[in-house]
Amino acid sequence: MVHRCVCFDVAFSQIAALAAKGLSFDQISAQTGCCRGCGMCEPYVRLVISTGRTNVPLLSPQQAKKIMDEAGARGVGSTPGHANK
Ligand code: FES
Repeated sequence: MVHRCVCFDVAFSQIAALAAKGLSFDQISAQTGCCRGCGMCEPYVRLVISTGRTNVPLLSPQQAKKIMDEAGARGVGSTPGHANK
């Protein structure tokens, strides 16, 4: 199970709590830093925001791509050096 953004040590429970307050993906990412490092957690974070789940099974590449495609995600962590901007 995946339960946190490793790069910024952000628990999915924290992300779910922020989503429950009405914060958007972009707002949560800006506030916590999640998805702004390696970006591997982004499909998981999007799933946490949409479902409230805080423990997510390991996603296949196809499942992760589907979540990203459905969100129209650009992969904020996919740009090298993004975390430093
Ligand atoms: S695990 Fe979240 S940005 Fe790397």
